[in-house]
Amino acid sequence: MAARQFFPHQRHSLMSLRFILLLSIGTMLACSTTDFSTVADPLPPPPHPAMGWSTWYGFQTHISDSLIRQQAEAMLANGMRQAGYEYVNIDDGWQGYRDVNGFLHPNSNFPDMKALGDYLHSLGFKFGIYTSLGRKSCDGLVGSFGHEAQDAQTFIDWGVDFVKYDLCYLDAGETAPSLVGKMSTALRKNEKHPVVLSIVVLSEPWRWAPRLAVNMWRIAPDETGTYKNMLRIADADARLALFASGVGWNDPDMLLVGAGGLTLDENRTQMTLWAMLSAPLISSTDLLHLGPSQLEVLTDPHAIAVNQDPEVQPATIVKQGLVDVWRKRLAEGWAIAIINRRTEPVTYFLDPSDFNLQTSVAYEIWTKQTVTLPSSITVAGHGCVFLKTL
Ligand code: GLA
Repeated sequence: MAARQFFPHQRHSLMSLRFILLLSIGTMLACSTTDFSTVADPLPPPPHPAMGWSTWYGFQTHISDSLIRQQAEAMLANGMRQAGYEYVNIDDGWQGYRDVNGFLHPNSNFPDMKALGDYLHSLGFKFGIYTSLGRKSCDGLVGSFGHEAQDAQTFIDWGVDFVKYDLCYLDAGETAPSLVGKMSTALRKNEKHPVVLSIVVLSEPWRWAPRLAVNMWRIAPDETGTYKNMLRIADADARLALFASGVGWNDPDMLLVGAGGLTLDENRTQMTLWAMLSAPLISSTDLLHLGPSQLEVLTDPHAIAVNQDPEVQPATIVKQGLVDVWRKRLAEGWAIAIINRRTEPVTYFLDPSDFNLQTSVAYEIWTKQTVTLPSSITVAGHGCVFLKTL
């Protein structure tokens, strides 16, 4: 199957329209008559933001059993698994049909989902799958509406560890929180098998999803592959820092490192911001065509350590101007990111005491150099400087 780097420019205006509609309808519905009492006590959530890989931006719906196996094998060979990327998530495009007894079956590209899950587990991965809470998925394939518990049981039988629950084709009168609650309850009934529940419901999910034992919730529409859009999503996420915790995570969408047209500096900026935001790190590109510098960005141990830090404190923006300064508290010390939104380089005098930080030495993650502070620092256009205090 030909690998295709997908960028949904074609769907962009449609997605934006969908977003606006869902935001307004969803906000009204979310505030209506949701019954939260039916949801079982959550299993302990994953203590850190999930890390993994998804089919979506690399392959769209052109996916198959063999493609998933190849990409998982590539993650072992290139060191991504060892760096912490553990979920292998099949996004939209695997669904086939629902039979007369209501059971959901994959299409012929996926002859045996249980065997695929077993294979991923045997390699040390966890297995993720996609479905929609409406009648259809966002790409028009069969959705889980009316079959939430049955589909949850099917996924559990296949050994699924992660369910991405998208919102498309919602019937009038249905509310997203009540359908999310049904799926959550059904998944949590299996007490021995923790399943990450990841939702794409854009009606301020951070306000209600934690009560439904949701582990991560999208905070913005799909990425468009541009630097500007990536920054816009990161800014929106930074305003929601209070809502991300050990209970669940704000999800700004997937890492585009290797996908789309971002430069290396822009790739580093995304990895920096996603690490600072304690965002799930879900790579979404064709891993068989990942360049060495892109792989280095995705697997940098210091960037990942900032993301997975046990303190679980998403960053806040402490200064905006010529450059932006983001600050994140770590279990030991601080991470500081200096972001240059301009296209040309900028030199900035960084004095940590301006941000109430008493520190005189830091490690710069991308250049792998120790920096004595205060100091003048040059930040590349659309680039960033990513410091960890020592
Ligand atoms: C929506 C989601 C994407 C992807 C597609 C699949 O657009 O936001 O992440 O899952 O659906 O159709």
